[in-house]
Amino acid sequence: MANKFEPLIPTAVIVNGGAWGDEGKGKIASREAKYADLVIRATGGANAGHTVVFNGKKLGLHLIPGGIVYPQTTALIGQGVVLDPDSLLKEIDDLENAGVKDVEGRLKISGRAHLVFPYHKDKDQLEEKYKDNPIGTTKRGIGPAYEDKDARVGLRVYDLLLPAKELEAKIVVATRMLNQLFKIDGITEVDAHHLAELYHEYGKRIWQMVVNADILVEEFVRARKKIVVEGAQAYRLDKDWGDYPNVTSSNCVTPGALIGAHLNQYDVERVITVVKAYFSRVGEGPFPTEQLAHIKNDKVLKYKPEEAYVGDIIREAGGEYGVSTGRPRRCGWFDAVLVKSSKRALGTDYLCINHVDTLGILGKKLGSVKVCVKYHYQGKIIEYYPDDIELTGEVPQPIYEEIEGGWDISSTARSYDELPDNAKRFIELVESVTEMPVKFIGVGPANDDLIVRNM
Ligand code: IMO
Ligand code: MG
Repeated sequence: MANKFEPLIPTAVIVNGGAWGDEGKGKIASREAKYADLVIRATGGANAGHTVVFNGKKLGLHLIPGGIVYPQTTALIGQGVVLDPDSLLKEIDDLENAGVKDVEGRLKISGRAHLVFPYHKDKDQLEEKYKDNPIGTTKRGIGPAYEDKDARVGLRVYDLLLPAKELEAKIVVATRMLNQLFKIDGITEVDAHHLAELYHEYGKRIWQMVVNADILVEEFVRARKKIVVEGAQAYRLDKDWGDYPNVTSSNCVTPGALIGAHLNQYDVERVITVVKAYFSRVGEGPFPTEQLAHIKNDKVLKYKPEEAYVGDIIREAGGEYGVSTGRPRRCGWFDAVLVKSSKRALGTDYLCINHVDTLGILGKKLGSVKVCVKYHYQGKIIEYYPDDIELTGEVPQPIYEEIEGGWDISSTARSYDELPDNAKRFIELVESVTEMPVKFIGVGPANDDLIVRNM
């Protein structure tokens, strides 16, 4: 234990998404968590979908940090999360059924995390309905839960510990304005009494996991224990840094994750930003390197194999379907300009690029792979992601560098030297444009299918 006045040694690894989510953050977070003491989910809610592998079984987690699968970890859901208790309890059951030990004993929940109620999900749908250009949210009530937090009527995990009557009174206040809206739209009024009973029941199961997370985190920091923050969402989904209004309702970049995780800047040992070797996006919004695909209204249209577009080929090769919603993802080429532009938001020390094996297969199929190295935008050539796309209505046009041919990588490859020349060319091109070192290279679906470079 460090002396009270001794400077602290930073021990927290922050894992972030470098694009629009679904980069495989769970994979690298799990790897880091193997030797971690405390794993934290900091932002977002059940809009996130992180796949972890336990005993050969794939588990889709939405709220609980993936590091829970390692028996030595304490897992914390931090104050920045909006928590849907129904979703949480299902996840706990799934983990326990899969054989993960003592989930309820090791999982801690910040009493200050806000709660998601069913009326948030109804409002999510309603907000989308009233927009000319819906965002394509996950409909998990994320935006409305954060709205209540900002409006200072949100209920927090601590409120689950109240007597049902007091909980009910708070729900009544939280939904007073909303009920007026619902009335206009023919949506049934919120039944505060019923919800209070239901959430009070949840509370009976959850109360023993509720903590003052400041104290919990401080203990781990003081004891110089390894901490991993499993970021959710990503750079371009951040409500300030991202493609507003096509963003999520939290600050999911590094500083936001720190607040959500009850940490500060002195705790950060390193930041790992995760991207894929090709890019994907779900929901609406600009996507400069997007490739045409047979997708309409979040469904894949019927098409003959010989009519597949590049976007279809990437989606199928990468299995790009949402963990949370099952939606087919829009797909396109690696955008090194976007990643370079994330520097200020994320403070990246190392990049992790997943699916480098998949990109090689795509290259073999399509004859070459592409990396966006600059944009044409507003009549100029630029090397940054513009922030006025909504104003100009112009999506930057990518200028690509092409790497001829593809490559084969065995998922057992563990050193950089084992990579075929073309794969190395890809990595080096990414490093030269983004000015970020690629330390981790995903070469297969399993957590261990990873090359870790000494750097
Ligand atoms: P992980 O952590 C991909 C997207 C939604 C939508 C927008 C707003 O798995 O990478 P919201 O429901 O948050 O209000 O939706 O943000 N989105 C994600 N896309 N992965 C995620 O999380 C996402 N979380 C939100 O598709 O476009
Ligand atoms: Mg996702």
